[in-house]
Amino acid sequence: MLGRLNHVAIAVPDLEAGCQVYSAMLGATVSEPQIEADHGVTVVFVELPNTKIELLEPLGDNSPIQAFLDKNPSGGIHHVCYEVEDIIAARDHLKAEGARVLGDGEPKTGAHGKPVLFLHPKDFCGTLVELEQA
Ligand code: CO
Repeated sequence: MLGRLNHVAIAVPDLEAGCQVYSAMLGATVSEPQIEADHGVTVVFVELPNTKIELLEPLGDNSPIQAFLDKNPSGGIHHVCYEVEDIIAARDHLKAEGARVLGDGEPKTGAHGKPVLFLHPKDFCGTLVELEQA
């Protein structure tokens, strides 16, 4: 069912400082910041040969990553995103297996304009998992 690793998302308290780490220190190509008001984050994409890293900074008062940063003040890995061919079939399979899909269970449009779903970390080895229809 799982395809490529689409991205690893890292929550950061300071996006500019995070960009510096990946561009100046690690020598990676880093995009301009992109505001994702619907998702309560500002995101920067770090392009790697085989996948992407997304640096997420909270945006607004109700950012879904603020609680994570409260617990991890210097930042940390927030979620991993795997590609699937058919997100509805994947969701139905996982629900039938007893996994919890977050929110109302309906795919939302993600940062790349494609349908995404999030899965409960307790059902996936303690890791928040995003599925994206490739
Ligand atoms: Co993501």
